[in-house]
Amino acid sequence: MATVSRVKELYAGKAKSVYTTQDPNRLILHFRNDTSAFDGEKIEQLERKGMVNNRFNAFIMERLEAAGIPTQHDHLLSQEESVVKALDMIPVECVVRNIATGSLVKRLGVPDGMDLSPPTFEFFLKNDALHDPMINDYHILTFGWASGEEIETMKRLTFQVNGVLTALFRDAKMLLVDYKLEFGRYQGELVLGDEFTPDGCRLWDSDTRNKLDKDRFRQGLGGVVEAYEEVAHRLGVDLDSPL
Ligand code: TYD
Repeated sequence: MATVSRVKELYAGKAKSVYTTQDPNRLILHFRNDTSAFDGEKIEQLERKGMVNNRFNAFIMERLEAAGIPTQHDHLLSQEESVVKALDMIPVECVVRNIATGSLVKRLGVPDGMDLSPPTFEFFLKNDALHDPMINDYHILTFGWASGEEIETMKRLTFQVNGVLTALFRDAKMLLVDYKLEFGRYQGELVLGDEFTPDGCRLWDSDTRNKLDKDRFRQGLGGVVEAYEEVAHRLGVDLDSPL
């Protein structure tokens, strides 16, 4: 495998930075220890989080690839970095919810913790200044953020991910409550991009319903990285294996 290294910072997000490489088709994602919530109002450095999320993301993306879902992930580069395909990102977030909590409960007044059958799906616009407003298919079409075919593919793949990951987490005694995915275009194909980590999903212990995700940070419950490591441990992700 040809070695790739950072050439130039392309973008610095709230928890990850993206770098170009010598290869125009590859980028480097650097998972930082920065942890943010409430549109960046609350920011802290959490020791080990970058490494745990990088390892965890690689594990999940490899599982999804194995299940036939195309992903951006290419390979682990270092403890906190991965090499990924360079995508043309679609500026929307796809959220699936298996259990009602968070903004859904506030918005619709449904009971917190209610099982959702069938699971529900929402689109949000990626726009921090506007606080990621909820949008619908027509907004996406009207403003040209994605085509009708891409909308249908994003929904299909997001639900396919739900099937794979609810089973994976269930076997490890966790409930996948909800999660957010982002997609991009790569050589004519729609591909799962960004990350899948406890920063962008909710995971509860199946028995106690204890939170094992970023809600620990949002709600000041403490033990954030410890919870992420517990999730990794339960899934059999080896955080110390050689790259
Ligand atoms: P949601 O309940 O809408 O967000 P919150 O209550 O945190 O305002 O989010 C549903 C799930 O999607 C949750 O696991 C967090 C994730 N998510 C993100 O990671 N980023 C986002 O911008 C959005 C809208 C959701």
